[in-house]
Amino acid sequence: MSNTDSTSLNLPIENPEAQDFLPLLGTDHVELYVGNAKQAAYYYMSAWGFQPLAYKGLETGSKDTVSYVVQQDKIRLVLTSPLGAGGEINKHINDHGDGVKTIALWVDDAAKSFKETTQRGAEPFMAPETQEDENGKVVLSGIHTYGETVHVFVERSAYNGVFMPGYMPWNPHYKAPDTGLRYIDHMVGNVGWNEMNKWCDFYRNVMGFAQLISFDDKDISTEYTALMSKVMSNGNGRIKFPINEPAEGRKKSQIEEYIQFYNGAGVQHIAVATDNIIETVTALRDRGVEFLTVPATYYEDVLDRVGEIDEDLAPLRDLGILIDRDEEGYLLQIFTKPILDRPTMFIEIIQRKGAKSFGKGNFKALFESIEREQANRGTL
Ligand SMILES: [Fe+2]
Repeated sequence: MSNTDSTSLNLPIENPEAQDFLPLLGTDHVELYVGNAKQAAYYYMSAWGFQPLAYKGLETGSKDTVSYVVQQDKIRLVLTSPLGAGGEINKHINDHGDGVKTIALWVDDAAKSFKETTQRGAEPFMAPETQEDENGKVVLSGIHTYGETVHVFVERSAYNGVFMPGYMPWNPHYKAPDTGLRYIDHMVGNVGWNEMNKWCDFYRNVMGFAQLISFDDKDISTEYTALMSKVMSNGNGRIKFPINEPAEGRKKSQIEEYIQFYNGAGVQHIAVATDNIIETVTALRDRGVEFLTVPATYYEDVLDRVGEIDEDLAPLRDLGILIDRDEEGYLLQIFTKPILDRPTMFIEIIQRKGAKSFGKGNFKALFESIEREQANRGTL
């Protein structure tokens, strides 16, 4: 498919310190390894409003794996399950539960991206490989990042099919209305104790990213738990990867809980952008998506902290949407509860109104909410 306008609405935060030797044009897709791809696809369509796009399975000659591709505006998810016992995908699901395996990045030259990153120390995942069908060709290559997560570089300028060679268009009768999700704003990795700087160095040295913002444990701590976070971004600002590590607190940090249940480092959340968070969250809630709540007291003084905003406060309060401001504007955001049985991955909905930051002013209220959930799970 034509992808030339991908992430054009991504309000790039240009990061002049980053060296864009790849360069990355945007997020091509995110692949999750899941236990039951058919039902996962139905969940992302019915609850989240993704549209069916492409399919690969027994009917297309894929004997070992099945994949459903769903899309909403610029966001593409690939949901993959194994068709038999054993193998790497089953092991991934056994170790981690459902989770993100691949953050695929859209590039002009996948072979060059592989060479540039591996010669800077990246561990190869997939040597450059051309895949072709009657609709053209794509070139893929890949490297390892934190945990068992990988980056695949996708070069698709010579491809006109629906997704990639090997996939057929998927056009089931069932289609749910979209929910206004536009593009991936950022994707966050949780890494183990004292590993944040190692992975920030990886993004700096291997991928040419630079650091946007850092938080320390004084920014992000409550009475009980703490974490540290740094945001790494590529040169055109389209790709933003905050990296979190646990910090010492009186009780178990949410990052430790994640690492325990995911069995290692992995993607903690995907933040997706909308142009109207009130409509998006109303639709998602009606369709069964569960969000973290903050106490009503949050809204008593929030406007003193963030100043005037365009929206009425009442619907934001009713939906539990959080507000934060930086030097350049404000943002509205809300976080789901974990979307899996293991308390691992969740999704953030974000609407930026000029702000280029990540909601630091909300962290305390948010983490207290997460701790209430952890206490319910007996994992605080
Ligand atoms: Fe986030």
